[in-house]
Parts: sequence; C-alpha cells; structure tokens
Amino acid sequence: MPAIAPSILAADFSRLGELVRLVEAGGADRIHIDVMDGHFVPNLSMGSVVVKGLRPVTQLPLEVHLMVEDPMRFVDGFVAAGADTIIFHLEVQPDPVPLLQQIRGLGKKVGLAFNPDYPVDRIEPYLPDIDLALCMTVFPGFGGQAYVADSDERIRLLRKLIDRSNPRCELEVDGGIDRATIVRASAAGANVFVAGTAIFGSELGPTTATRDLLTLAGR
Ligand code: DX5
Ligand code: ZN
Repeated sequence: MPAIAPSILAADFSRLGELVRLVEAGGADRIHIDVMDGHFVPNLSMGSVVVKGLRPVTQLPLEVHLMVEDPMRFVDGFVAAGADTIIFHLEVQPDPVPLLQQIRGLGKKVGLAFNPDYPVDRIEPYLPDIDLALCMTVFPGFGGQAYVADSDERIRLLRKLIDRSNPRCELEVDGGIDRATIVRASAAGANVFVAGTAIFGSELGPTTATRDLLTLAGR
C-alpha cells in the first residue's frame, strides 16, 4: 500500500503543529523530518528539538532523514526526542552495519539513503537488514527542486533488488515529488513518497494535497 510522508521542511514553522494535524487529516502515514548539517549538504535545517516539539502533537510515526556527515553522533538524541525511524546516507557510512545495529538496538526502524549519483546496486548487501531504502530524486539540501530525470530507471533497479532480497523493505523517494512525478515514481516501483512543496505549498491546502497525492499513488 502506498504511503505519503509530508516533509515539514516546506512548512510554515510558525504553524508547524497545526500543519502536521492537517496532513494527518489528509491521510499522511508519517512525518518526514529533514536534518541538514551544512557539511554533507550546503544548508542547515533542524535538530532534535523539532522532533521533541512534534511528538505530543501527532500519533504519526516521525521519520528523521539525517543529511549529515557524522550520523552516529546524533542518533541517540533523535531517538530520545521521539523519532520512530532513522535514515542515514550510504555516502557518509561506507560500512553502515554498526550504525544499523545501533539503531535497531534502540528498537527503532532504520533506513538507508543515497543520492542521485550513487551506484544503486551498492545498497544490495544491506537490504535484508533495513526497513526502508531511500532513493533521492534530487541532490539533497533544499526543498522545491526538480525531480532528476533518470530517477525512474534507478527506482526500477532498486525495486528489482528489493524484490529479490527483502520484499518487506519499503522503497521511498524524496525530492521533486508532485502530481506528475508521483505517478512516474510509483509506476517505477516506489511505495513511499516524501513531498514537501507539493503539500505545504499547494493551493489546495495540505489536507487535500495529501489526499490527492495518495490517490495518484494508487490508494
Ligand atoms: C531534500 C530533502 C527533501 C525535501 C523535499 O533535500 O531531503 O525531503 O524537503 O522537498 P520537495 O518535496 O519540496 O522537493
Ligand atoms: Zn528528506
């Protein structure tokens, strides 16, 4: 079943709690929290205080996407703040196993992400041990960018690898997901869709925009 993960990076932070409740009303399955350190990506965003602030606001799982050079330093803080899933990048953790084990040991779900120029097949050995594989469909750092054109092909390859090694692993896409690209990414085999601008910047409002994307993804 397809799932939508609204990215609060595109939300009006003065209304964060209210906006999270609105996407929940639209059927959002989880909340995506983009953490940037100004090193791995050329931008800063938010830390564990935001997770702590949102925890009492919603029942939805809080999914933390760590776009940081040294994810190990931050995992405990985000888990203590109430994160349900921790995603980190293969680019900064060529041997991800110790960190995967650390996160699992804390009883949380774990995801591995990679950028649009990372060889997709390098994730294969870790697929049996993760809950989610995140195929970036933009170079991370900023919301509102265009979906990278060859992403469909990369999603198709990842789908093949997942079906072979761990069909329960979710295939998430992140970046430039809108009414058109969600259909493409879904046809290519993605089943979890992060969307920031298409939800919080939509004229329809976040509740209807979430519902609309879910319908387009086939739910
Ligand atoms: C990219 C972030 C994304 C981003 C998506 O740096 O990881 O989660 O917020 O935003 P949109 O949907 O606006 O491309
Ligand atoms: Zn993200």
